[in-house]
Amino acid sequence: MRPLVITLLAMVCSPSLAADELQSRLALADADRGRLVFGPCRTCHYPDAFMGHNNGPNLSGIFGKVAGKQPGFDYYSKRFREAEFVWTPQLMFTWLEDPMAMFPDSVMMSRGVPDPQDRADLIAYLKQATLRQADQLD
Ligand code: HEC
Repeated sequence: MRPLVITLLAMVCSPSLAADELQSRLALADADRGRLVFGPCRTCHYPDAFMGHNNGPNLSGIFGKVAGKQPGFDYYSKRFREAEFVWTPQLMFTWLEDPMAMFPDSVMMSRGVPDPQDRADLIAYLKQATLRQADQLD
């Protein structure tokens, strides 16, 4: 029993395996499906730069940006205001599984996206939608 439990724990906890999981899921990801997965997020977020902020900050070009620093959004929690990490697809994949588990003191009221392939689809959509916007701003 013991070795199995340890192996399972190692699998769950290993960041490189998590990265492999995202890579293989992104290879199968469908941005059009991701647009639908993003539906409930749209209540609070626009991915397009020209739409500005909603109840949540605008997500244009979010990958590669430091969290909690979108100019003109005044409702960040202390946790996000003081955050120093950069949003990567991997981090978003992990966070969105259960947002309140990672940042219990965040003010984002979302249950996240429990299904891993849905999360990969959402990330594929966000990459496409937010990069297109970043290009348009150049
Ligand atoms: C009820 C409104 C609401 C919903 C629904 C919501 N968010 Fe948020 N989101 C927020 C707020 C408010 C923040 C700022 C959180 C904080 O400061 O603690 C935020 C922060 C974020 C950030 C970080 C932005 C930054 O500038 O660092 C990302 C990325 C994000 N949300 C993605 C999503 C995704 C993807 C979904 C759908 C699964 C979602 N959100 C659903 C309100 C929402």
